[in-house]
Amino acid sequence: MKVTAIGTGYVGLVTGACLAEMGNHVVCLDVNPEKIRILNEGQIPIHEPGLLDIVRRNVAAGRLQFTTDIDRAVNHGTIMFIGVGTPPDEDGSADLQYVLAAARSIGQRMTDYKVIVDKSTVPVGTADRVRAAVEEELAKRGSNLNFSVVSNPEFLKEGAAVEDFMKPDRIIVGSDDEQATLFMRALYSPFTRNHDRMIVMDLRSAEFTKYAANAMLATRISFMNEMALLAEKVGADIELVRRGIGSDPRIGYSFLYAGAGYGGSCFPKDVKALIRAAEDEGIPLRVLTAVEQANERQKLLLVDKVVSRFGSDLSGRHFALWGLAFKPNTDDMREAPALVIVQELLRRGATLAAYDPVAMPEAQRLLGDHGGLQLCPSAEAALEGADALLLITEWKEFRTPDFDGIKRSLKQPVVFDGRNQWEPALMKTLGFEHFAIGRGLSL
Ligand code: NAD
Ligand code: UDX
Repeated sequence: MKVTAIGTGYVGLVTGACLAEMGNHVVCLDVNPEKIRILNEGQIPIHEPGLLDIVRRNVAAGRLQFTTDIDRAVNHGTIMFIGVGTPPDEDGSADLQYVLAAARSIGQRMTDYKVIVDKSTVPVGTADRVRAAVEEELAKRGSNLNFSVVSNPEFLKEGAAVEDFMKPDRIIVGSDDEQATLFMRALYSPFTRNHDRMIVMDLRSAEFTKYAANAMLATRISFMNEMALLAEKVGADIELVRRGIGSDPRIGYSFLYAGAGYGGSCFPKDVKALIRAAEDEGIPLRVLTAVEQANERQKLLLVDKVVSRFGSDLSGRHFALWGLAFKPNTDDMREAPALVIVQELLRRGATLAAYDPVAMPEAQRLLGDHGGLQLCPSAEAALEGADALLLITEWKEFRTPDFDGIKRSLKQPVVFDGRNQWEPALMKTLGFEHFAIGRGLSL
C-alpha cells in the first residue's frame, strides 16, 4: 500500500520504517530539513535499537523515502499518518497546532481519496477537528473530495520502539467508516497474523484509550514510589514487596519499579493534558493530580538523600552522575529526572561530572552551558575525585560495574542508587555506604 508518514520523530519514523519493512511504499515527511538530511545520508536522527538497519534496508529496496516536499508527500500516500508532536501548552493541555497544520497541508493538496490517521497522542474530539480542518481547506479550493479520519494511537516505548511496533500487544483503531477500517485492517494484517490484535472502536473511545493507558501506567509508578518512601521508614524492602504483589495476576509485574521518578515525552505531558481536559469538563481527576504531584516530588528524592548525607549546602562537594536519558536505550532527555537533579545539585553549590552511554550530545545541547557540570567521555572518568556517585538511569552497563574501581576513584565509597540496581547486602559487604529507593532493610 502507499503510505505517507508526516513527522519523522520517534513515532513517525518507526511507523514509516516498520510499515516499509512489510512491503508498503512509504514516504516520510518532516518540516525539519536537518532531520531529512540526516535520513537521506543513511543515518537516523535518534537512538532507537534496531531502527537504523530497517531504515537502510528499506531505503535500499526503494520502499522508504524521506522528504521535506509537502506536495510530493501528500500526493504519495493513500494512508496518511499524522505523527507530529503534541507538546503541552502553557496550561498543560495538548497543543494541537502541529497536528492541525499537517491536516491543513493534506486538505490543501490532496487530489484523491485519503485515509487520514491520527497517530499522535491527541485529546478526545481531535479527529473532528482534523476533519473540519481538511474540509475547510477543500472548501477553499471548491473541492468535495472524499476522505476518512481514523484514530490509531501509538503505544510504543522508546528504546523498544521497533519491537513494540512489530509485535504490538494491541492495535487500537477508532473509526466510524467501513472503508477506512478495511484499509487499516489490510495495513496491519502482517502484525496481527497469528492473533487478531486489532480492537476497532469509535473515534472518541480510541483517543481516550491512549490517555487512559498512560495515566494508568503513571499511576502504578507513583503508587510504587510512595510505597517505597514508606517501606524505607518502616524497614521493609520495596524490591521484595514488588515481587510479592506482582505475582498476583490481577496486579502483574510490569511498571512496578520504584525509582527516581518517571520522565519522557509521554507520561508527564499526557497526565497533565488529561487532568486539564477533565477540568474543562468539570471532572477533577484527584487520583491523577496526586500521581503528578508525587512524581514531581520523586524527581528530587535523590537530592534529598544527598542533602541528608552531605548537608544542605553542597558548595565544595563534587558528584558523579551515571545516566542522563529519561530511561535506558534512548538518547531522549525530555522531562528526564536527571535534568531536575542536575539543576538542584548545582543550585546548592555542588559541581558535577556526568556520563550517559548515548545521551551525551543531547546533554550537551540541553545542559552544556552549566559551568558546574562537566560532561565526561566515560563512566570511569566521571567518578574521579567525586564525593559520591548517583545512578540515575539504569543502563545495562551500570548493572555490574567494577565496584573496586568505583571505590578507588571516589573520595569516599558513597553511592546513591536511584534505580535499585545494586543489592544492599552486596554493597555493604563491598564496603559502600549505599542509599537506594525504598530498601528499608539496608538502612
Ligand atoms: P518528536 O518530537 O520526536 O517528532 C515530531 C516530528 O514532527 C518532528 O520531527 C517535527 O519536526 C515534525 N513535524 C512537526 N510539524 C510537522 C508538520 N506540519 N509536517 C511534518 N512534520 C512535522 O515526537 P514523537 O516523540 O515522535 O511524538 C509524536 C506524537 O506521538 C506525540 O503526540 C506523542 O505524544 C506521541 N507518542 C510518542 C511516543 C514516544 O515514545 N515518543 C509514544 C507514543 C505516542
Ligand atoms: C511510555 C509508554 O510506556 C508507552 O506505551 C507510550 O506509547 C509512550 O510513553 P516511554 O515514555 O517511551 O513509553 O517509556 P516507559 O518505558 O513507559 O518509561 C517512562 C518512564 O517511567 C521512564 O522515566 C521510566 O524510568 C519510568 N518507569 C517505568 C519507572 O520509574 N518505573 C517503572 O516500573 C517503569
